Amino acid sequence: MDTTTRFSAGQRRLHWLVFILVAVAYATMELRGEFERGTLARTLMVQTHFWMGITVLLLLAPRLWLRIKRGVPPIAPALPAWQAAIGGLMHWLLYAFLLVQPVLGMMTVWTDGKQVMLPFGGLVLPTLMAPNAELAHTLEDLHGTIGEAFYWIIGFHIVAAIYHHFVRKDDTLRRMG
Ligand code: HEM
Ligand code: HEM
Repeated sequence: MDTTTRFSAGQRRLHWLVFILVAVAYATMELRGEFERGTLARTLMVQTHFWMGITVLLLLAPRLWLRIKRGVPPIAPALPAWQAAIGGLMHWLLYAFLLVQPVLGMMTVWTDGKQVMLPFGGLVLPTLMAPNAELAHTLEDLHGTIGEAFYWIIGFHIVAAIYHHFVRKDDTLRRMG
């Protein structure tokens, strides 16, 4: 396998796994409204949302470690400096999202006086914040706003990948494929 012109296998696996987890985290929140409060289906949606997000957070550590260790393979043909700079900025913004969004989610649950429960096991994550209804509201709003904003940013990321592959016809997407 060519590791000099592609992201390493670990980086590629993590990228696509996290993509799926983020998509499911979004989908469960979009779909939860279809189910009445208090029903099993609604609880399952919300719990799945929590656990997708927490898994994203856990996977961020090995992902960043690989990113630092393995770096980024060059794109051929090379990008103009300004495009490479925007790409780099976008990628760090996406990494920041993968850190901040799950943390805000957990903080929302804790300050709302609730617990993050491990599905089916009855185990509970340690609650690191005291209940505070006002703060819970603010955090939930922020979590919601960032969630909305990243529809656009992730959308831009996907459009950029399509542009590179089909319009510019470089190897940006193949490096991650
Ligand atoms: C990649 C990770 C995550 C993404 C993309 C994400 C995204 C979202 C979105 C789009 C909403 C809907 C906001 C709205 O309808 O106004 C939401 C709500 C929420 N999220 Fe997350 N979230 C993530 C992780 C988490 C985690 C880890 C937790 C907690 C453990 C969490 C807890 C919540 C809560 C409590 C709500 C409000 C639920 C409700 O109104 O019933 N989120 N999230
Ligand atoms: C259909 C969906 C997606 C496609 C086609 C896609 C495509 C790509 C491609 C081609 C790269 C390499 C870019 C480069 O090196 O210049 C990349 C990198 C990256 N992607 Fe995605 N992506 C998708 C979804 C996502 C999602 C949902 C996230 C996270 C929210 C994400 C986060 C990242 C990050 C952080 C990098 C930077 C890698 C690095 O340079 O360290 N991607 N993506």
